[in-house]
Amino acid sequence: MDVSTAISQRSSVRAYKTTDVEEDQLKKVLEAARLSPSASNRQEWKFIVVKNKETKKKLAKAAFGQSFIGEAPVVIVACGTESKSVMGCGQPTHTVDVSIACAYMILQAYEIGLGTCWIGAFKEDETKKILNIPEHVRVVAMTPLGYPDEPSSKKSRKRLDQIVCFEKYE
Ligand SMILES: Cc1cc2nc3c(=O)[nH]c(=O)nc-3n(C[C@H](O)[C@H](O)[C@H](O)COP(=O)(O)O)c2cc1C
Repeated sequence: MDVSTAISQRSSVRAYKTTDVEEDQLKKVLEAARLSPSASNRQEWKFIVVKNKETKKKLAKAAFGQSFIGEAPVVIVACGTESKSVMGCGQPTHTVDVSIACAYMILQAYEIGLGTCWIGAFKEDETKKILNIPEHVRVVAMTPLGYPDEPSSKKSRKRLDQIVCFEKYE
């Protein structure tokens, strides 16, 4: 599968088969995070792989009861380990870096038949308690990972001319 196909065909998955994710497939997804770019190549991130049923249930609760998170065989919780760093443009480095890594993982997962769903709606404090995450570390996102148990959904997106302008902001 090429990158264009993955970008155009992938959709968020909110129902998962109970089938385990093979270790080599999981590693492939995590490798995509490892190989993704980061500001000054600092790679200030940590990806927590959760398979324990009880822990996944707790994470689903911390994510405002999004129960499908607890039903996936794996949940990956993506953290920025240096949350104080700000780029020259004023954006927090860890949010951008970790988001790029998550995007890479999501596309890699799709290529090998695995579903994901970016989760941004979660209580960070509760998530940190569940996973023993230190105070200074920020949780940027989490995603369930597993074989989809639902057909992929059709994309609904703005048209290109609604989101692109040329030479100056319009
Ligand atoms: C930053 C971010 C936060 C999101 N948070 C959630 C979430 O908490 N729960 C959820 O079910 N989907 C969440 N999503 C998934 C979006 O709803 C989804 O990507 C969007 O509707 C487009 O659909 P698609 O992923 O199927 O193309 C999030 C996506 C992004 C990028």
